[in-house]
Amino acid sequence: MASDFTHLREQAIAAWDSLHSDGRPLILVGTATCGRSAGSLAVLDAIRAAVEKEGLACHIMEVGCIGLCYAEPIVCLIKPGRPGIAYSSVTPKLTARLVNAYLVKDNPLPRNAIGTFGDGQVEGIPPLFETPVFAPQVRRALARCGFINPASLEHYLAHDGYTGLTQAFAIGSEQVIEEVKNAGLRGRGGAGFPTWRKWRFCRDAEADQKYLICNADEGDPGAFMNRSLLEGDPHAVLEGMIIAGYALGASIGYIYCRAEYPLALERLRLAIRQAEEAGLLGDDILGSGFSFRIKIKEGAGAFVCGEETALIASIEGKRGMPTPRPPFPAVSGLWGKPTIINNVESLACVGLILQNGADWFAQVGTEKSKGTKTIALVGKVKNSGLAEVPMGISLRELVFDIGGGASNGKAFKAV
Ligand SMILES: Cc1cc2nc3c(=O)[nH]c(=O)nc-3n(C[C@H](O)[C@H](O)[C@H](O)COP(=O)(O)O)c2cc1C
Repeated sequence: MASDFTHLREQAIAAWDSLHSDGRPLILVGTATCGRSAGSLAVLDAIRAAVEKEGLACHIMEVGCIGLCYAEPIVCLIKPGRPGIAYSSVTPKLTARLVNAYLVKDNPLPRNAIGTFGDGQVEGIPPLFETPVFAPQVRRALARCGFINPASLEHYLAHDGYTGLTQAFAIGSEQVIEEVKNAGLRGRGGAGFPTWRKWRFCRDAEADQKYLICNADEGDPGAFMNRSLLEGDPHAVLEGMIIAGYALGASIGYIYCRAEYPLALERLRLAIRQAEEAGLLGDDILGSGFSFRIKIKEGAGAFVCGEETALIASIEGKRGMPTPRPPFPAVSGLWGKPTIINNVESLACVGLILQNGADWFAQVGTEKSKGTKTIALVGKVKNSGLAEVPMGISLRELVFDIGGGASNGKAFKAV
């Protein structure tokens, strides 16, 4: 098991490194839903045309959302040995200028840039992660979003992907629950229930079949944190699901995702196929003896179906209506079997906890709730988009520092 995975990982790291060291510029284009709605697919075409016109040999890569939805379409240009430069509100016309100015003539056009990332500086452009939007953020669940190709298993593997799963197999399923307990993870779906505690109920329940469900219904108006994560880093959610399934003794997982999230569904389907082909999903995963399959159930977009008992009814083909608890799903859930339902972000956190350890996870947050939270900033706020902040951050920091305050210049009244 270890050698197969090590080989897979080494290959992925080598491929990622060569992407950055073969002397060709790398161009990143944000093509998540926010980018697409702002016109990023036309920008992508324009980049291909501009690169061809200039006769340049470049890597062009589609990436997920980095959170600056208000500034889409975002294009990042990375020249070998230089920091990357992110440009905002890029149009097909501006694309041709950027390619010519920076990649051909070495003029970085600071006026159009929003920030640099990676090692080094570029005169006149601030480091992206030191700008007011990013400075208060702690990016963990979203760290890979916007910087890897979500359609590439290799890119995920090259960034510690699936090392949480191998760690889970190394310490054993009982210890996985301890690790999640020590990390202080509480559910990100709203109720904030300690994740380890409901896992424990389910693990201790006697049954021939148990289920894990990933709740990707995300019906709250204005919320798109889960969608962004699924679009930008789908393997992170799959890895968390496999680890959770292993801890619970479940062999089948469902992702309940609304049909209005077609890109998230497309990325998930591809990621599942890739994980199956790589032996990370299916029978006897990485030779561990643990088998786990993931199925997708598309929801019709009813807010109430995000509630766990209604969601279970919907998967069973019944009308999505909540039912009184007890019994709790951990004891009697999908088709009467012990079932755990976790939010997309909770599951992504599980992967991170196993990858980096409980102590690392608990370094930020409050006494009773550890880690970070992804937040969708929408409405009359200047910098609408997605942020990831430590638990316990003030609304003032969220609205005024990250969000830039009210978009219409009027006095702030309510949030
Ligand atoms: C009306 C209603 C809608 C809900 N919608 C969602 C949702 O869209 N996504 C979600 O994860 N949890 C939602 N929940 C909470 C779930 O019932 C459940 O607590 C959660 O998925 C558990 O995952 P967690 O422990 O990882 O947070 C909703 C609850 C209610 C009452």
